[in-house]
Amino acid sequence: MLHILFFLPLILTSTHVIAQDFCVANLEGVQTPSGFACKMESEVAPDDFVFSGLGIEGNTSNIVEAAVTTAFVEQYPGVNGLGISAARLDLAPGGVVPMHTHPAATELLYVVHGRITAGFISSSNAVYLKRLRRGDIMVFPRGLLHFQINAGKRPALAIASFNSPIPGLQILESALFANDLPSALVEKTTFLDYAQVKKLKALLGGTG
Ligand SMILES: *[C@@H]1O[C@H](CO)[C@@H](O)[C@H](O)[C@H]1NC(C)=O
Repeated sequence: MLHILFFLPLILTSTHVIAQDFCVANLEGVQTPSGFACKMESEVAPDDFVFSGLGIEGNTSNIVEAAVTTAFVEQYPGVNGLGISAARLDLAPGGVVPMHTHPAATELLYVVHGRITAGFISSSNAVYLKRLRRGDIMVFPRGLLHFQINAGKRPALAIASFNSPIPGLQILESALFANDLPSALVEKTTFLDYAQVKKLKALLGGTG
């Protein structure tokens, strides 16, 4: 008993060694595969856990007539280390998010309004395609190629969540045609005609 009383103050004062509740990103530090280093807790503020950018309509005046506004760790440092992030998807009539993957995250898409045709392609090349309506959610498994198209005559809005603060985004068309890989090699590796490769490189800003 005497021993317990003696050690009690030690036990109580050691409570600063508790589980780490969060690790708000210090965006000035280096990014590693497990995220950014943590901001000092004394510098963490409520704003670190709030991101207001998803309330703002994206600008769809572009070649794909779509806008993706991301709340990944770079925009939203509070999600660092928490295995979660979000994005807003605006699709004008005719808009498309071209075939793409998030190498590090599964995506859950919630349709706020409008009609969206969405699909993904499995590793065995099976296609899972659906026309989504307001209120629908669809899940896109990690790393698989997928796309979203506005299937209606009005703008469509969706919110996506990801099970990583760094989902990654690789657009297939950009990967193939916005690069400086010689067109002859793109032709050889894609089975497309040389002229088609040149045309797509010009359209998407590639060279070579
Ligand atoms: C949307 O983007 C286009 C093309 O970059 C630009 O000309 C236009 O001013 C932008 N509109 C708004 C409201 O920011």
